Amino acid sequence: MQPKTITGFSKLSKLGKIKWLVENFFKDPENVMHELKSYWLDNQEHQELLDGISENTISNYPLPLGVVPNFVLNGKTYCVPMVTEESSVVAAASSAAKYWMERGGIQAVIINNLKIGHVHFYWTGSPERFGELFELLKPKLLEESRGLMESMLKRGGGLKSLTWKSFTGREPGLYQLFAEFDTRDSMGANFINTVLEQFSSTLQEFFKSDPALDGDEREIDVIMAILSNYTPDCLVRTWVECPIADLGDFPGRMDALTFAERFYHAVRIAQVDPYRACTHNKGIFNGIDSVALATGNDFRSIEACGHTYAARTGKYQSLSHCAIDQGMFRFWMELPLAVGTVGGLTSLHPIAKRSLEMLENPGAGDLMMIIAATGLIQNFAALRSLVTTGIQQGHMKMHLNNILTQTGASPEEKESAAAYFLDKTVSVNSVKLYLESIRKSG
Ligand code: MEV
Repeated sequence: MQPKTITGFSKLSKLGKIKWLVENFFKDPENVMHELKSYWLDNQEHQELLDGISENTISNYPLPLGVVPNFVLNGKTYCVPMVTEESSVVAAASSAAKYWMERGGIQAVIINNLKIGHVHFYWTGSPERFGELFELLKPKLLEESRGLMESMLKRGGGLKSLTWKSFTGREPGLYQLFAEFDTRDSMGANFINTVLEQFSSTLQEFFKSDPALDGDEREIDVIMAILSNYTPDCLVRTWVECPIADLGDFPGRMDALTFAERFYHAVRIAQVDPYRACTHNKGIFNGIDSVALATGNDFRSIEACGHTYAARTGKYQSLSHCAIDQGMFRFWMELPLAVGTVGGLTSLHPIAKRSLEMLENPGAGDLMMIIAATGLIQNFAALRSLVTTGIQQGHMKMHLNNILTQTGASPEEKESAAAYFLDKTVSVNSVKLYLESIRKSG
């Protein structure tokens, strides 16, 4: 057997898992064991809950929960929770939220709210013949999935359309059932996948036994049934706008019009150059992911969807847009965002529940708007820095603090370093040298 491998790891107790791990992978097993245990929660119930969310759990991995106050969206003031490992993200969002609060706030609207799922299969018959068979198949698909739909129907959701697509022009024999769902306030992944698996069974049974088919026609190979994380019809639009004159003044005595034009060009660059678009959109997801994580939503699916949408024209582009139009500065974004506020982690994780409570328990549509608006102002904050002072000024303030903490600086040393580095370049080395110098002279 390969060294350091094990069978039956998942059956070990939590302590047994840690013991095996620290003995095999660490040089100071006792210390590591102690440290991992130190992050267990005192509240046994909460700890068991966290352990139940994943598998092979040995400890917890804390990340800071920050908040963005003064977040005015559609006239309502929120305090927005964000979980992120990146310094400056919450500070940037807070500064941009306040900036737009003073200029009429952020606006958002839901365009539509449909989720999508497929059953992918191979069949050698022609699309025309499948079209004929689908007329017979569809009532069976609906009938046999009705029971699974009941509670979603009661909540006003359910299956909204059921069609099919042929990909035979690109891949011989490839077809799919194409279903659209309204899952109300839930993200709906389990609901959709359960219904799709029922469709898959009905489809196979139909091809096996329906008298309408004969001979080779019966041969169908159902490959998989799964929702798509690409939800272009679960769309939210968010925007900020104000007269250019109201934008204010910017560092380096930059006037409002110069700022607006430089900002506009920053967005244009991300529209024509995918290299820049990637970083530009990453800045948007700094905001989106942080709120998604804080509220117990699946940030990977949200990211995958957003990036697919950004490439929908065949060329990867900026998700946000800017216009300077008759004296007005307009900045907006349309983005598909499939989120939930009931079910899944949203109702399990104690802090996700508190985050939603902080947002006054929004429905999925409200949360879509809050998350999209956070992405937009996060993008605004990044571009505002980039076209004025450069990004490092803000980043370095937080970076300096992190370096000082890592190097064990005292509160007094931190204060004096903050003043010293106001107009100097921060690096691990420069901070170390500075600390050495003040320690020597002190
Ligand atoms: C850093 O996390 C995000 C930025 O790079 C985004 C951007 O460049 O627009 C600052």
